Amino acid sequence: MQRFQGKVVIVTGAASGIGEATARRFSDEGACVALVDRNEIPLANVAADLAKELTIAHVADVSESAATQAMVETVVRRFGRFDVMVNNAGIFEGGDPAEITDAQWRKVMATNLDGVFYGCRAALPHLEKTKGSIVNTASVSGLGGDWGMSPYNAAKGAVVNLTRALALDLGRKGVRINAVCPSLTRTGMTSDMMDDEELLTKFAERIPLGRVCEPDEIAAVIAFLASDDASFMTGANVTGDGGVSASNGQPPQQ
Ligand SMILES: NC(=O)c1ccc[n+]([C@@H]2O[C@H](COP(=O)([O-])OP(=O)(O)OC[C@H]3O[C@@H](n4cnc5c(N)ncnc54)[C@H](O)[C@@H]3O)[C@@H](O)[C@H]2O)c1
Repeated sequence: MQRFQGKVVIVTGAASGIGEATARRFSDEGACVALVDRNEIPLANVAADLAKELTIAHVADVSESAATQAMVETVVRRFGRFDVMVNNAGIFEGGDPAEITDAQWRKVMATNLDGVFYGCRAALPHLEKTKGSIVNTASVSGLGGDWGMSPYNAAKGAVVNLTRALALDLGRKGVRINAVCPSLTRTGMTSDMMDDEELLTKFAERIPLGRVCEPDEIAAVIAFLASDDASFMTGANVTGDGGVSASNGQPPQQ
């Protein structure tokens, strides 16, 4: 498929995991891709694999409003237009709520929530011109709670509802916005968990498809939501969770 030929896409958090897979997917489908991350060397390594004339690597911290604005301006200057914003960069913070520090709380909100809003706001004037779209990476952790993950749950829950609210404000402007809600996915963020067989077995028991997700599988959902194939979808929080959120929470009986 070449759904994005002539289109310009920004993917944040593109140096690793879901963002890397998403940048590769858009590139494979013919897009000009701006890969954005605060982690310079891995970012350059991913970008070096993609079509040279159609790719830029841009180092930025999405939790900084001015840096996010500059990111969009750089991309529009380089490619002359802008069609798809993928707000994907994210970090994890969790623990016993009584022991979570102000700094931890601010850190996760700054990237996982503020960064998503800054990306949407900076993209908007350009996406209005191209009738483009936004995809946010939320999480099943934004649809329900997890044990010991309150800051992350709060930030992702806010992204889920931000996506709905912006869909109302942007619809008449011709801009669609949706989110993808993955469950446990094999990425840099979860690399420690992937070595813990006991933990993976526990997860597999609660995932109807019986396994963790691969980043390419989320990249495919993101590309779908950004494409004209999803032309009547906006304000949706689409799960890519192997069926986790289909459960009411009761444990398996067999
Ligand atoms: N892996 C999972 O199980 C899972 C599940 C649900 C949702 N998610 C979400 O998917 C998204 C991607 O995460 P991943 O699992 O691929 O993790 P990852 O750690 O592999 O990749 C995240 C990337 O974001 C970058 N990043 C972090 N903070 C940044 C900032 N402030 N500015 C710019 N870049 C920044 C990191 O450098 C990294 O390259 C995140 O929003 C995460 O919350 C992940």
